[in-house]
Amino acid sequence: MEYPQILGQVREQVADVVGGGRVADYIPALAAVDPGQFGMAVATVDGAVYGTGDWRVPLSVQSVTKVFSLALVLHADGEAIWRRVSREPSGNPFNSLLQLEQDRGIPRNPFINAGALVVTDRLLTLTGDARGAVRDFLRAEGGRPGGEPGGLAGVGPSIDFDLKVAESEAEHGHRNAALAHLLASYGNLENPVADVLEHYTWQCSLVMTCEELALAGRFLARHGTAADGSRLLSRSDAKRLNATMLTCGTYDSAGEVAYRVGLPAKSGVGGAILAVVPNRCAIAVWGPGLDESGNSVAGLAALDAFTTLTGWSVF
Ligand code: DON
Repeated sequence: MEYPQILGQVREQVADVVGGGRVADYIPALAAVDPGQFGMAVATVDGAVYGTGDWRVPLSVQSVTKVFSLALVLHADGEAIWRRVSREPSGNPFNSLLQLEQDRGIPRNPFINAGALVVTDRLLTLTGDARGAVRDFLRAEGGRPGGEPGGLAGVGPSIDFDLKVAESEAEHGHRNAALAHLLASYGNLENPVADVLEHYTWQCSLVMTCEELALAGRFLARHGTAADGSRLLSRSDAKRLNATMLTCGTYDSAGEVAYRVGLPAKSGVGGAILAVVPNRCAIAVWGPGLDESGNSVAGLAALDAFTTLTGWSVF
């Protein structure tokens, strides 16, 4: 596969939509991001990385971190988390409170905020430092082997928390606080609400580049095998995590994304999307402008173009 050529074609095809959509402004620090940026990186299962555009510009990973916290919990705790969180698409906005009450405190899936709060809560119990565990995991998987700039082994970790984004979100995080209290009222949190919120908010503030994100997601294309060759997830858990991304990873547009792209994918309101082509590669795309569901407009267009040009999808 001629990745550089394909990425060049994708970039040309999305040029018209780069800058389209609306930058998330409910977290004031995110509203300041230049909407005209676009980056895309592909990390192949055999270790190569290709990129185009702003693929080495740090971005706010936001909800894409939910994939990694869930992977850590599945790794440490197996299937137990599914007693506390379902795995059905929600068909509702990611921060909706309505369904959580109707479902008696069991979130629809681990990728809406209520579900991610439960996953973070469990990770906090398991590790004592949920946000640190997610950061360290991203550094271990997303650092470039060989220590090239941008990777952990080289000039130092570029993957870290963004204090401004974390504080900005904490100041405006009333809905997440409401969700956490509702979860606690149903007995579905093990730790104090304030601790869970803090770890969740910091985790969302993590900053990394498309290159690092594609590398970090590569274990999902490798059936659960980590960068160092160890087994992070069983084959079956890796399949399940990919399936949950496909059905629940792009807010209430998962059907539309399956239709247009046909790959497991997880979005964040910073404008990043991580997508997985099992057996082949992980793809990270970034464009800060979002559509009405919260998915990156340019990012979805790029994944659409990539899967059309390559003919790759899980279907
Ligand atoms: O909880 C929030 O509002 C953000 N920190 C993350 C939101 C996001 O990217 C989409 N959520 N599923």
